[in-house]
Amino acid sequence: MNAIDTAIRAAAADIRLAGVTKAYDAQTTVIPPMDVELRAGEFTVVLGPSGCGKSTLLQMIAGLERVSGGRILIGGREVQDLEPKHRGCAMVFQNYALYPHMTVFENMAYSLKVAGIRKAERAERVAAIARMLGLSDYLHRKPGQLSGGQRQRVAIGRAIIREPGVLLFDEPLSNLDAQLRHDMRVELAELHRRIGATSIFVTHDQVEAMTLADRILILNKGRIEQFDTPKAIYHHPASVFVAKFIGAPPMNILPVTGDGAVLRLADGQAVAGCRLKGEYQLGIRPEDVLVVGGADRPGIRASVRFREDLGSHSVLAADLAGSVIRIATPFGADMADRPDLSLDLPLSRLHLFETASGRAIPGAFGAQ
Ligand SMILES: Nc1ncnc2c1ncn2[C@@H]1O[C@H](COP(=O)(O)OP(=O)(O)O)[C@@H](O)[C@H]1O
Ligand SMILES: [Mg+2]
Repeated sequence: MNAIDTAIRAAAADIRLAGVTKAYDAQTTVIPPMDVELRAGEFTVVLGPSGCGKSTLLQMIAGLERVSGGRILIGGREVQDLEPKHRGCAMVFQNYALYPHMTVFENMAYSLKVAGIRKAERAERVAAIARMLGLSDYLHRKPGQLSGGQRQRVAIGRAIIREPGVLLFDEPLSNLDAQLRHDMRVELAELHRRIGATSIFVTHDQVEAMTLADRILILNKGRIEQFDTPKAIYHHPASVFVAKFIGAPPMNILPVTGDGAVLRLADGQAVAGCRLKGEYQLGIRPEDVLVVGGADRPGIRASVRFREDLGSHSVLAADLAGSVIRIATPFGADMADRPDLSLDLPLSRLHLFETASGRAIPGAFGAQ
């Protein structure tokens, strides 16, 4: 850890939103009142579909967009009425927003210059950040002479050079190709471990969320669906929305009816013992569905519609009681010639949700 690492670590601040809301006009509320607390040094990923309010939320924290109501506290200090430059946040954008006529060095040193920091110290700090980001050999190039990944690194360097307590990222990897996205993800995780600034990373990519986050905040139409660790979100989704947003392919959701003793699929096949009565949505992840064998074996009957071979495993799509169920199986190849399958849906892997609200019903199948 060098001096810059230590300085940033020391400055990490907690963030609290208290009743923060945003309406661009009288008819449409983009963010209904939101209460949330992010711990100092925590890496939060805000995940949600396009248009759900992710950028709006980030820009309100940065001060680029005004709140319509509520308070934002950074390190215990109310900042919602402060200029962006007084909030101690730095932001990295999807389109990098580098100054094209300046060199890499000048891009990174610019904010220090504006802040009146001496030339010798500017050079020292740029050199340290450039070393950290593997940019030392590129300091005299212009952004146009860099690859996408290098430009993204310059944007990150420019953000962290001011040693902000809060780092905000708005889909910073979306313009990169798949391999580079992966490499940059690893770099960002590594960088966060080193400098520990409180970080908020906005994305619609669930893989980025699962791999980077200490906690994932899932947004749906400006509302928090769930805010928890990647593990908890994967294993205990709080709603059908979350269940379907995380996982590839996403969780299967099947309508079921309970009679107080057994849950049945639409065609009457029994899937699990359960005390509940009425209509529910049953969830099971493709990787949790077990293929017992062909139709000659006991189990839940499904007929294969198509199969995708992904090398490491196969994904079968099968008709089950009028719905399509996806099954991820390493044994997919063995099942190629079997149109009818017998399935096991293990009780410990089942999720149950209310039909109207989509909210999870914890403990529906006894202790879980
Ligand atoms: N300046 C604006 N004026 C009016 N509506 C806006 C403005 N900016 C964003 N919106 C609307 O707010 C909603 C959320 O936008 P945004 O925060 O950009 O979503 P995301 O980043 O999740 O894709 C969208 O419906 C968008 O159309
Ligand atoms: Mg956005």
